[in-house]
Amino acid sequence: MTVIPVPTTAIIVVAAGSGTRLGASAPKAFVGIGERSVLRHALDGVFAASPAQVIVVAPAGLEGDAEAELRAAAGDRQDFGRVVIGGETRQQSVAAGLRALWGDITTVLVHDAARALTPPTQIDAVATAVTPASGVIPALPVVNTLKRVAGDDVVEAVDRDSLVAAQTPQGFPRVLLEEAYAAALEAGTEYTDDAALFAAAGHPVRRISGSERAFKITTPSDLDRARQLLAPPAARALASVPRVGIGTDVHAYGGDGNLWLAGLEWPGEPALSGHSDGDAVAHAIVDALLGAAGLGDIGEHFGTSHPEFAGAHGDVFLARTRQILAEAGFLIGNVSVQLQANRPRFSVRRAEAEAALSHALGGATVSISATTTDGLGFTGRTEGAAVTAVALVVPGTLER
Ligand code: CTP
Ligand code: MG
Repeated sequence: MTVIPVPTTAIIVVAAGSGTRLGASAPKAFVGIGERSVLRHALDGVFAASPAQVIVVAPAGLEGDAEAELRAAAGDRQDFGRVVIGGETRQQSVAAGLRALWGDITTVLVHDAARALTPPTQIDAVATAVTPASGVIPALPVVNTLKRVAGDDVVEAVDRDSLVAAQTPQGFPRVLLEEAYAAALEAGTEYTDDAALFAAAGHPVRRISGSERAFKITTPSDLDRARQLLAPPAARALASVPRVGIGTDVHAYGGDGNLWLAGLEWPGEPALSGHSDGDAVAHAIVDALLGAAGLGDIGEHFGTSHPEFAGAHGDVFLARTRQILAEAGFLIGNVSVQLQANRPRFSVRRAEAEAALSHALGGATVSISATTTDGLGFTGRTEGAAVTAVALVVPGTLER
């Protein structure tokens, strides 16, 4: 067994933010890019760099999940990692990480988990460039033309040659960084990043070259970019191809109360029986959408293990399905449905049903045709209704 000497560098990986701008259902560090979370990708990069103490700063309540990601990424460096709980602001989260440093540490790197694809070479380059008196940031040239504005008035052009875009990890000599954090705490000042806090204490900060892959995942389109960078070449070529899915559902007449079908209540019509309200149209659409996106089926997302959906109407199923697809990076193109049933007489409310289902799906086009089956089969004997739905989904996200 190789014995790794005790490191003198520590990397604080801040992952305690909520990811408001990403708008996913989990905090940003726990959102998936492909099969691994944002945090796991960040930690894979950290553990591929030279040995260092690794402190993951996690949101309260998710320490266990962060610990599992840390264990999975650490390989033969299990003893080097630990998880602490973060604070309200990024600065407070970094401060929590600083309190967990080992005594031997002389250089501290602070890294955003949200920069999940940062190359290990960038982490090592920062660590190497830190001196006992100065800090280091990786940065990229600014490519956009910049203007200073006051409200909507353009005041002046800003010379971009004198500007860079800062990334992480940012590296500092431990003692001076701890002093600078203590001073910021005392003054109650919040800084935009660690380099600003360090510079405010009077210490120099130098920059080295950053990299495109170290971009910060902030919005849904950043997450898309990360997914595409990680996809194998063939998958990358296919990543923008629209995808179709099919869903069918059958319910027998015999439920309680009025019929619910295609998101509408049909007073006086015999109800369909089944889990929830028996809305076979909505259920077939859910399966078609999940199938197109490769995200399982209705039983998996809405079955008996999800009692919150018991008795829910079709619009609730559809809205949740749309959210599941959005989180996986899919937009809904259109849905085409065919209903086979003797009752109800569908055509009189077709437009109303299409509008209701379209609304539940965030505006996607839904078209429904209805037919009888010439007296044949269970639909012909008015024993039940059968529905087939086909859905088209497109990889992509809507900016929030
Ligand atoms: N962070 C943290 N503790 C906080 C706030 C942020 O550890 N109280 C971390 C985030 O987890 C992220 C990094 O700081 O890795 C950069 O912050 P940002 O990209 O702004 O992430 P969030 O604050 O989670 O996102 P948002 O601002 O959109 O809510
Ligand atoms: Mg933030």
